[in-house]
Amino acid sequence: MTPAEARALYPVLRTRAYLNAGTCGPLADATVQAMLRATVEDLESGRSGSQRLERYRSLQERIKARIGEAIQVDPAHVAITSSTTEGCNIALAALHIGPGDEVVTTDNEHPALTGPLAARGASVRVAEVLHHPTSEALDRILAQVTPRTRAIALSHVGWLNGQVLPVVEVKRATSLPVVVDGAQAGGAIAVEAAEIDFYTVSCQKWLCGPDGTGALYVRDPDSTPPVLAGHIPAQGEGIDRFQIVHHAIPVLEGWATALELHPEWRFEQAASLTATAREMLGRRFELATDGDPSTLVSFTVPGDPSAVRAKLEEQGVVARDLPGTSWIRISCGYWNDESDIERLVDALN
Ligand SMILES: Cc1ncc(COP(=O)(O)O)c(C=O)c1O
Repeated sequence: MTPAEARALYPVLRTRAYLNAGTCGPLADATVQAMLRATVEDLESGRSGSQRLERYRSLQERIKARIGEAIQVDPAHVAITSSTTEGCNIALAALHIGPGDEVVTTDNEHPALTGPLAARGASVRVAEVLHHPTSEALDRILAQVTPRTRAIALSHVGWLNGQVLPVVEVKRATSLPVVVDGAQAGGAIAVEAAEIDFYTVSCQKWLCGPDGTGALYVRDPDSTPPVLAGHIPAQGEGIDRFQIVHHAIPVLEGWATALELHPEWRFEQAASLTATAREMLGRRFELATDGDPSTLVSFTVPGDPSAVRAKLEEQGVVARDLPGTSWIRISCGYWNDESDIERLVDALN
């Protein structure tokens, strides 16, 4: 597949400079067709029968295999979820994090992680990394660890500025249970998650799946019995017990299709376009990081960023503003090309 063929998979790119996979990735025509076909089948043939259960299982196996590839883990340790948020909730529950338990986190976390930490009553120690060079992040995180720390919970790629946090190094340095929010990493950059205790991804973002799709890798499912249970997976063992949600067959069909479309060169292409975007935007705007190897680029805009975002949208450029910052954030996928960045820069003029 050439880059031009890859771009053509995603119809939204015909009309828009779609630069917001960090919220939701573009949908491929093939993904939507698979969902439509399965929906009509449900309509005409009903939604039960033994064949349906087999189909459900085989679609899940296809999905787990591709997620395993994306984050370099054994698919037999991947549970299907509805979102990163769900993955964070399951992981913290599995670790029995409760009121007053000390958890180290950072100031570059999404509510998908801070919400579940608060809901469990964790006592958080927050490492300040957001406005500091990423080279300092490991020391800053380790400085928050005390003899009382029960777990470390943090993002792999920070949603605000694309900072890449040293999650594997944190695990190696502490040996504590580590929960990683990989929403902005899975499918965006090359990830090796095998050493991490719980690594969550979203599939509607960089993996271009339908809404409401995600996955959770569990390093050692048998030593950490989940405290939440779903009924179909509960019949299984090991990793299956971490699965609570039941997706509709049309969603699973679209999801498996989406994951099987990605070219092998996806990470290199996205990284190279991100470098181009940094270069082009850096000529006029202050960038939020020194160039972490992620696919998010945040930059300071004059005035109200939400007004800037709305203006961009009027011109067919899809980016996002970020609460509490003066930044606009763009997401560079392998499906984007330089013309999308040029359109963004023109629209900002
Ligand atoms: C770092 C991060 N974590 C979690 C989420 C939420 O993901 P999900 O909707 O899959 O729970 C997002 C974005 O929405 C994010 O940027």
